[in-house]
Amino acid sequence: MAIERTLSIIKPDATKRNLTGKINAKFEDAGLRIVAQKRIQLTMEQAGKFYEVHKERPFYGELCEFMASGPVVVQVLEGEGAIAKNREVMGATNPADAAAGTIRAEFAESVGENSVHGSDAAETAAVEIAYFFSGLELVG
Ligand code: CMP
Repeated sequence: MAIERTLSIIKPDATKRNLTGKINAKFEDAGLRIVAQKRIQLTMEQAGKFYEVHKERPFYGELCEFMASGPVVVQVLEGEGAIAKNREVMGATNPADAAAGTIRAEFAESVGENSVHGSDAAETAAVEIAYFFSGLELVG
């Protein structure tokens, strides 16, 4: 399988509860390498642009407010099949459906406050990584 990169976000519910290290350990234990990482505070506008694809969804406003409500950790994860592997480690979007041992099963509070985001495909990963990181910030 090819080496891929994917964009991950540790969301405000998780940074608030000091879970960054525990979540990063899950990624590293699964063989994913954190090749870029920074803790930032998104504005409503920045969150809105990132989640533009969900603009028509009823939860869009709530989602943007939540993502701008506290610090997030944006990161690039690298590894074999990193996009699918990260989604496996995160678990289902709704923590009620997430498999035991996944990040969302262990840490997420609700479908909205679900601790982590991960890119869903190669094209999305490229766009999402470029949204937060320049090439110079990616050290493999
Ligand atoms: P994420 O992987 O970041 O991508 C879009 C997000 O929208 C998703 O995780 C959820 O946190 C959020 N989301 C999805 N469904 C709902 C919902 N019904 N209510 C609130 N937020 C939702």
